[in-house]
Amino acid sequence: MAHDQIVGAAEGTVVRSHSGARLLCLRPRMADFTLKMPRGAQVVYPKDVGAILVYGDIAPGSRVLEAGTGSGALTLALCRAVGPEGRVVSYELREDFHHRAAANVEMFFGKLPAWLDLRLGDVAEVAATGERFDRVVLDLPEPRAVLPALDAVLHPGGIVCTYLPTANQVQQAVLALEAAGFGEVETLEVMVRTWHVAERSVRPDHRMIGHTGFLTFGRKGSPEG
Ligand SMILES: C[S@@+](CC[C@H](N)C(=O)[O-])C[C@H]1O[C@@H](n2cnc3c(N)ncnc32)[C@H](O)[C@@H]1O
Repeated sequence: MAHDQIVGAAEGTVVRSHSGARLLCLRPRMADFTLKMPRGAQVVYPKDVGAILVYGDIAPGSRVLEAGTGSGALTLALCRAVGPEGRVVSYELREDFHHRAAANVEMFFGKLPAWLDLRLGDVAEVAATGERFDRVVLDLPEPRAVLPALDAVLHPGGIVCTYLPTANQVQQAVLALEAAGFGEVETLEVMVRTWHVAERSVRPDHRMIGHTGFLTFGRKGSPEG
């Protein structure tokens, strides 16, 4: 089978391999793309991306601050969720990751969305810009270190979300959020168990992704007055 039989063909086209296998040609979903794209940093898994968007209440028109950009997996989902009426500003400390993420986002969308601003630097620098956001998503090891900088940029009622791999990091983040005046602080993890479904056997698959990260959400209050 020639590669040219697939390139430019309609989605859903079926071709046969040389050995006779039936191949169904489909565009990758975002979840497929993020797990296959070249990675610099560890990506946010698709199962967690869904929860970040829903519990973080990230919708068309939202103004979202993200750090670190890493490989750009979460950036893709944020861009698609906020759409052209929204804005995503994403900071990354490492230049190689910053470029890797830009290449991944461009590969997925065909070009960089006009409502995305990928910045090389420390997310704490955002405090000096005078910009304001509705949502902040932090996938970096020490979110508490950047919380003071976020105070000036997050609207009252705005939501911050942290994605952390270990329980002790979560405890530090929760205590820091509460000390910084955030309310409605909650932590959750997302477990997804896929199933094997066939004529003679219906059961959970033997393997699953046992652990990725814990999600913590908090909502900013107004200054007491
Ligand atoms: C786990 S990765 C992020 C992966 C990303 N969410 C994704 O889905 O591809 C964490 C990233 O945060 C970056 N980072 C750590 N501290 C930072 C800071 N203060 N400002 C900006 N980026 C930071 C690191 O360089 C690293 O690339």
